[in-house]
Amino acid sequence: MMLERLDRLPDDPILGLMAAFRADPDASKVDLGVGVYRNDRGETPVVGAVRQAEEAVLARQASKTYVAPAGNAGFNQAMEKLVLGEGHPVLTAGRVRTIQGPGGSGALRLGAELIRAASPQAIVHVPTPTWANHIPLLSGNGLELAQYPYFDGATGSVNFNEMHAALDKLPARSVVVLHASCHNPTGADLTDAQWRELLPVFQKRGLLPFIDMAYQGLGTGVAEDAYGLRLFAEGLPELLIASSCSKNFGLYRERTGSLHVVNENKTAADAVLSQLVRIARRIYSMPPDHGAAIVLEILSSEVLTRSWTEELTGMRKRIQGLREELVKRLAAAYPDKDFSYITRQKGMFSYLGVDTAQVRALREKHHVYMTDDSRINIAGLRAENIGYFADAVAKVLRG
Ligand SMILES: Cc1ncc(COP(=O)(O)O)c(C=O)c1O
Repeated sequence: MMLERLDRLPDDPILGLMAAFRADPDASKVDLGVGVYRNDRGETPVVGAVRQAEEAVLARQASKTYVAPAGNAGFNQAMEKLVLGEGHPVLTAGRVRTIQGPGGSGALRLGAELIRAASPQAIVHVPTPTWANHIPLLSGNGLELAQYPYFDGATGSVNFNEMHAALDKLPARSVVVLHASCHNPTGADLTDAQWRELLPVFQKRGLLPFIDMAYQGLGTGVAEDAYGLRLFAEGLPELLIASSCSKNFGLYRERTGSLHVVNENKTAADAVLSQLVRIARRIYSMPPDHGAAIVLEILSSEVLTRSWTEELTGMRKRIQGLREELVKRLAAAYPDKDFSYITRQKGMFSYLGVDTAQVRALREKHHVYMTDDSRINIAGLRAENIGYFADAVAKVLRG
């Protein structure tokens, strides 16, 4: 027997948290754990434009035959424009190659495989902290991982001086993972000026950025959230971008994402695409088409694009409004601590900045669920529970 040798692995902490939340019978329970967008009724509904596009796609679809290992070519092109901006110099120069991936996670893994093919000794540097899944996605194929300082808990923002100094010491061809916007788990983003300050470090030291954009449009705006990566694409010979349609299009389970590679020239670009196609064939052969067909349908229709943009703006404004309301409520419930950094952060997540024992107390005494690092999903708050949550935090902080 062979499989019986395998050890039982511990459950993923997020899955354990979801199960504990479901099993909690308390009526006032609050779920701030799972990283999906929620509306003011606590639902994650299908986006209106997605619903309409889906109907059109299904009505027209005459076959379920394979598309291609690189996915839907129309989707790939539409994503290049969405991510990099129409008319970006690297698009005009024909230096970008795109492969559709199974979600942003799939795109990250494709990128990791490409890096390993080019340089098995490459070290991938991720921010401290980073999205927990970056670790297995980027190093599960044998690449070595290292960390660079990123977040300053005292100010709730990026520890830019330390980050800059650490990157400025890396050897050439180091891979540096950056979050395009809405940093997960902290919500602390680089400012435009900080992106501009980092670019010469990458140029001078010959670093390869790998930018993860999982929340385009949920921070400040569709173009604003891509500011840093568009700047880096213009100023560097090579760049990897993993993009996800899970959150901004609400396509989570349809597994829709893309990997964009900016190359030094067209010859290098063609070689990279041929490698990516080979990598996809070796892992899963072809990506799922449904979500990509929907995104293409939306992005090729002015009417649907407008509808999607409006709904996305609504999601972003809801999150921003909740951040402001939360800071007000926390200031009233616990004036001893300044929580105003929460309004300066972007996207769905913030670190509450309480310790693991306090996270446990919030869960056990007040039925408030968040991950042990005190990451909260702001979109899990609603008019009915935001006051309850702020009071629970204050009680736990008072001990
Ligand atoms: C930082 C980050 N990158 C990538 C992803 C990938 O998402 P998906 O694979 O669902 O598209 C997520 C999702 O939570 C994320 O937070």
